[in-house]
Amino acid sequence: MALNGIDAVTFGVEDLVEARRFLTDWHLTEIASDAAGAHYQTRDGTDVFVRAASDPSLPPAIEPGSTIRRVVWGAADQGELDKTLAQLSAGWKVETAPDGLVECRDPDGTTLAFRVSQRRLVVAKPTGVNVPGHSGRIDERAPFYDHATPIKIGHVVFFAGDLAAMDTFYRERLGFVLSDTYPGAAVFLRCSAVGVHHNLFLLSRPGKPGLNHVAYTVGDIHEVFGGGLDVSRKGWKTEIGPGRHPISSAYFWYFQNPCGGLAEYYTDEDHCTEAWQPRDFERSPEMFAEWAVAGGIDGKTRRQSREPLR
Ligand SMILES: [Fe+2]
Repeated sequence: MALNGIDAVTFGVEDLVEARRFLTDWHLTEIASDAAGAHYQTRDGTDVFVRAASDPSLPPAIEPGSTIRRVVWGAADQGELDKTLAQLSAGWKVETAPDGLVECRDPDGTTLAFRVSQRRLVVAKPTGVNVPGHSGRIDERAPFYDHATPIKIGHVVFFAGDLAAMDTFYRERLGFVLSDTYPGAAVFLRCSAVGVHHNLFLLSRPGKPGLNHVAYTVGDIHEVFGGGLDVSRKGWKTEIGPGRHPISSAYFWYFQNPCGGLAEYYTDEDHCTEAWQPRDFERSPEMFAEWAVAGGIDGKTRRQSREPLR
């Protein structure tokens, strides 16, 4: 039984115009739009839907304001999907959504749906590095990106109103696997034993579930930097970044996001197999970021932002 990643997300937002401007500036590809909302995709075909928070067709919100309303998890094929749904529905309420997908609510109330993945495999070509004794890039200049083009949604992060119940649900009902943990405070989970370090990160916030961020995978560190500078140049505010996570090893850049929570460009996370050994970490600023630029880098001056730090 294994899901293989995030296939679609739906946001309900308070300011549809601003949310759409952000998703366009984030360099998702617009597929369709009308007065009620819009449909975007990443390079691999992950769907991003945005509609007004007041839209009665949306699943319920888990918090006030703009936030995520539904996450669609993909399975590699119909057999894997059937196995997942059989395990889930044995003791957990599921129903069929208007779009035909099987849906449920996780213990915090977030609506989940499931489908055979419609994503396409995108093979990134990371920039080679030149170090003494090894030339990975010969007669070739390294790239400089004037914007990022997100490949996929790698993970979503929730504040868990009931961390224990959420952890149990995703691991026991949906087959997620523990990658690392802040004991009692947070869990990093991946969909299956072989895969990215985390597809889901649950951060305890008792009684107050919510969206923390949605993370978009890009090709390499240069695309994180170039993409972040581009989004900054367009006037969007950095929450924190660029920086590097000790847990997962990834490079990141987080922006404030009118769709709800934060949006993250990231790259180069750990790839896990059955041999991966989960570790317990103590939660601290040092474990969140080996290093980070708190105010971001100004996209116009290309120097650290001069805006006062919060
Ligand atoms: Fe993240």
